[in-house]
Amino acid sequence: MRIGSEDHKQMFCRMLLETHNPYKPAVINWPPLAPDALKRLTSLPIWDIAVQTEGRASIRVATYAATLQDPLLREAIEMDAAEEARHKHVLSRLVAAYGIELAPEPEYPAPRDPEWAWMFTGYSECIDSFFAFGLFRSAQQSGYFPEALVETFEPVIQEEARHILFFINWVTWYRRTMPWWRRPWHSLRVAAIWAKLVWDRIAIAKGIDADGVAHDSNFLAANSATIGDGLNARQLLALCVVENEQRMSGYDARLLRPLMMPRLARLALRFMKK
Ligand SMILES: [Fe+2]
Ligand SMILES: [Fe+2]
Repeated sequence: MRIGSEDHKQMFCRMLLETHNPYKPAVINWPPLAPDALKRLTSLPIWDIAVQTEGRASIRVATYAATLQDPLLREAIEMDAAEEARHKHVLSRLVAAYGIELAPEPEYPAPRDPEWAWMFTGYSECIDSFFAFGLFRSAQQSGYFPEALVETFEPVIQEEARHILFFINWVTWYRRTMPWWRRPWHSLRVAAIWAKLVWDRIAIAKGIDADGVAHDSNFLAANSATIGDGLNARQLLALCVVENEQRMSGYDARLLRPLMMPRLARLALRFMKK
């Protein structure tokens, strides 16, 4: 199979469509938690960002899907959008079940540039999922998340793995199939997306979200300090690398894998002291 071919497109679309997990958020039984486990969960400073990220992702992905002519590609990206909407649904249920208070939700307007918004979502998931894989496993290993909750969340985390696998294949296929003269413009757009992604994450780490509103202060720092309990930064990063490999391992080896984050992490690990 040649990357960028019709066969390649069929393969990454089928991967997403055929590995869909049909769970229903409405029938999830939220396990009762012991008081200390409940306190740990409700005090995590992630819920606002998590709910809003899923809300934004689903409208962005759905808006891009609606612009597509290709029926298979459209079906796959529509499913991706529906899964994002379902993540938000799962989180709303969890928040309600454990009495977590959320900040008022903003509106989720449809993006004006659907392709940009789709790529922005795709690349941000590549960054965030990579860390989520490691944090999730670490929360399980340390007992920070009770086992019943880990099981409930497992499909959500694996869905993000499928999304980034799909996205990386899509973006490569898309570039290869576009006329050569459009490629420089596309590269510039991708570079601008990465600049904004890095900028946003620095802002979030300082306790200011992408829209300049202070909330969920010290998102990454607070979460790695609490969930990553017992692991230092180096061990946590190494766990992210292992988990990423694990989560990507079950899919057809001919599909491309997201490489940017694992490569950056491996590079960083070389410079971090043991
Ligand atoms: Fe999601
Ligand atoms: Fe996703």
